[in-house]
Amino acid sequence: SNNMMDDLEKILFSEADLAARVKELGAAITADYAGKEILMIGVLRGAVIFMADLARAINLPVAIDFMAVSSYGASTTSSGVVRILKDLDEDVENKHVLIVEDIIDSGLTLNYLMENLWSRKPASIKICTLLNKPDRRKVDVPIAYNGFTIPDYFVVGYGLDFAEKYRNLPLIGVLKPAAYQG
Ligand code: PRP
Ligand code: MN
Ligand code: MG
Repeated sequence: SNNMMDDLEKILFSEADLAARVKELGAAITADYAGKEILMIGVLRGAVIFMADLARAINLPVAIDFMAVSSYGASTTSSGVVRILKDLDEDVENKHVLIVEDIIDSGLTLNYLMENLWSRKPASIKICTLLNKPDRRKVDVPIAYNGFTIPDYFVVGYGLDFAEKYRNLPLIGVLKPAAYQG
C-alpha cells in the first residue's frame, strides 16, 4: 500500500503529543536563555522537522544553521563512523549553541559533534533531542533538553526515516518488522 500508516505497528506519539511537548521544551529553553541569543544547529536530515517547530516555540532571537554528519547508508543501526558531509555556514565563536537532534541512539554522532564544536570556542553548547533511546547508548552524551525517552523501538516519522521514507509523517510511530525486513 502507498499509505504510510499501514506500515506502522502502533502510534507512539500523536501530532498533539508532539506539539504539546515541543511547546514545553520551547518554554524551558526560552526561560533558560533569557537575555541571550541562540544559535541552533540542526543535524541533517532527521532533525529538520523538530527543529522547525522548536524554533517557533522559542520566544528569543534564534539563528539557525545545519551540519550533516553521517554514519553509513540505509542501515537500521548506526555504524559508529562519523564523517562531516556539510559544515556550518556560521562562525560559532562566542555563540550560545543549541544542537538539535531528532534522536540519540548510540550517542556516537553527538559525541563527535560536541567535541568538534567545542574546539571552535562557542560561549556554550547544549543538546536538545526529541527522542532518547538510552538502551542503545555506547558513549555518554549530556542531554540538556529531552522530549521523550523511548525503548529500543524502530521509530519513524516527524523527521525520522527508514531508507529516506516516513520523514513527513506528522506523528511518530513504530515500524512493523515487515516494513524494514522487506
Ligand atoms: C540518525 C538520527 C541521529 C543519529 C543518532 O541519523 O537522526 O542523527 O542517527 O544515532 P547515534 O546516536 O547512534 O549516532 P541518520 O544517520 O540516520 O541520518 P538522518 O538524520 O539523515 O536520517
Ligand atoms: Mn540524523
Ligand atoms: Mg536516518
